[in-house]
Amino acid sequence: MNKMMKMMVVAIIGIFMVACGNNSKEKIEKIYVGTNAEFAPFEYLENGKTVGFDMDLMAEISKEIGIEVEIKDMAFDGLLPALQAKKVDMIIAGMTATEERKKAVNFSETYYKANQVIIIAEGAEDISNFEELKGKKVGVILGFTGDVVVSEIDGVEVKKYNAGYVAIMDLKEGKIDAVVLDGEPAKNFVKNNEGIKITSAEGEKEEYAMAVSKDNAELLEKINTALTTLKENGTYDKLLKKWF
Ligand code: ARG
Repeated sequence: MNKMMKMMVVAIIGIFMVACGNNSKEKIEKIYVGTNAEFAPFEYLENGKTVGFDMDLMAEISKEIGIEVEIKDMAFDGLLPALQAKKVDMIIAGMTATEERKKAVNFSETYYKANQVIIIAEGAEDISNFEELKGKKVGVILGFTGDVVVSEIDGVEVKKYNAGYVAIMDLKEGKIDAVVLDGEPAKNFVKNNEGIKITSAEGEKEEYAMAVSKDNAELLEKINTALTTLKENGTYDKLLKKWF
């Protein structure tokens, strides 16, 4: 090849690379994010839209990473199976990063710290620790950490519900003595329902994190980097103020 031809080949390759580069920039990657929108103020439905702290956080993270997000609302106990079956790419659902769940999926850095609380009827006597649930009828939500915590206490009559509001309804009607739930959603129920209160008992600390499939280290790293940025630039604090 003479010099001229070589230069032309290099130039053509160059133009080709630039063209491809531009092209891939236009095509924004889309990921599916699983949640269970029955957990206000983290995620709940408002006029058919999934809103809440987690949803805002997810939107900010997707802006940071430069990806498009489609939320998939499903039953809470269907989330981990959906992730493992690759029906969703990640989960954000006020999900506690438990040792048990860590066996199946990877979790991001913690984005919220919470604990279980006990809700009882307003007129009922205070319950100051979880052991005092012994001998009582206690409502939990199927598959939530509250379910695990209460099921481990001997002598409790555990009633499992598919949704928090049904358990709260039963509590108000006196069909059960207590409901165990994460602190913020519990506060939300108490605010919106007459005749119930939160006891002084405080459960162990739990850490909410986003879940990603074990073989998707790339996405996990992007999420963690984005989370750090949002914590540093004040966006995360703004969201905390907005929702709590
Ligand atoms: N933190 C609890 C858990 O991980 C409850 C989470 C419920 N979240 C929801 N979106 N329904 O088990």
